[in-house]
Amino acid sequence: MPGAPCLIDRYAAYLPVSERTPRLTLGEGGTPLVRARSLERETGVPEIWLKVEGANPTGSFKDRGMVVAVAKALEGGARAVLCASTGNTAASAAAYAARAQIPCTVVLPAGQVALGKLVQAVAFGARIVSVRGPFDAALAVVKELAAAGEATLVNSVNPLRLEGQKTAAFEVCEALGDAPDALFIPVGNAGNITAYWKGFVEATGAGMARRRPRMFGYQAEGAAPLVSGRPIAEPETLATAIRIGNPASWKGAVAARDESGGAIEAVSDDEILAAYRFAARCEGVFVEPASAAAIAGLRKRAKAGGLEGVRQVVCVLTGNGLKDPDRARTLAGEIDEVDASADAVRRAIGGMGGHRPPNA
Ligand code: F0G
Repeated sequence: MPGAPCLIDRYAAYLPVSERTPRLTLGEGGTPLVRARSLERETGVPEIWLKVEGANPTGSFKDRGMVVAVAKALEGGARAVLCASTGNTAASAAAYAARAQIPCTVVLPAGQVALGKLVQAVAFGARIVSVRGPFDAALAVVKELAAAGEATLVNSVNPLRLEGQKTAAFEVCEALGDAPDALFIPVGNAGNITAYWKGFVEATGAGMARRRPRMFGYQAEGAAPLVSGRPIAEPETLATAIRIGNPASWKGAVAARDESGGAIEAVSDDEILAAYRFAARCEGVFVEPASAAAIAGLRKRAKAGGLEGVRQVVCVLTGNGLKDPDRARTLAGEIDEVDASADAVRRAIGGMGGHRPPNA
């Protein structure tokens, strides 16, 4: 078929869709699985793969769930969609709503959405409102608006979102021929870990896999309600995507952890930043800070000797590094501006670095 692949078509047999469901698509899914040799060397795990979800049309995994949620909303005659978001859900909802030519409203935690995500919502023409408070407060507001019948809610409390997102687990099983020993994934509102687990369970039932992975979820230390076991009123982390104090899919995350024999753990902002650098500089994969939490978790667990018997790992990299240009800018210091001559450039750089191993 020419043109972009359509996730709904590809997995129609496993999704709650019919011939009547509009084949909405922006070419979502089918993202790369990239071998992570530097991480393998560091951790001693023989095989590590990065599922690069930042390669989706709006730069995050949200597109998988959003395409299904918006297509089904259209099928049901919805006239508008609505979400709360730390940014990526908003970008994705705005894009698919634009594609479907229906209005989209996004409610954001004021001052806490990375610039790249915000400009996406603007570009796609969403109505945007910031509310004072964390994501959790924004979610409470949109739930109330949706209950009044004003628009279809496309947050992951809408089960169609999780249906779409579970297709990433199918892709992993198809690519590896089975599920891996362990999956590492960042956790915020906890929809994605819930969706992956559902996907892996269904994959074994459908003959796509013989086994299921242990699920390892990572929250930021200042926003780790699933680790402490109770909601947090004022979550805090530089990984704004997962700055969430009371995850909507709490039960799903706990079930994924317990049924799989995995864990949900916390990583510090410093560990997240170190992993953010490592992914970019040692693997050539530029992710946003929240995604780096999964890599931080993998490195931390490896260091603590907590990967006994784990030979094959998939690490889910949920969003593209370009989403958060302000954070990215902190990776480099001042950039020299010099005259346009080879000598001046050579002086500024101090050599091309070819005599040293990269990033050592
Ligand atoms: N990584 C990124 C890049 C995210 O944007 C999110 C969630 C997560 C991880 C966590 O996924 O919520 O399913 O546990 N972002 C949401 C949003 C909350 O509004 O864009 P989760």
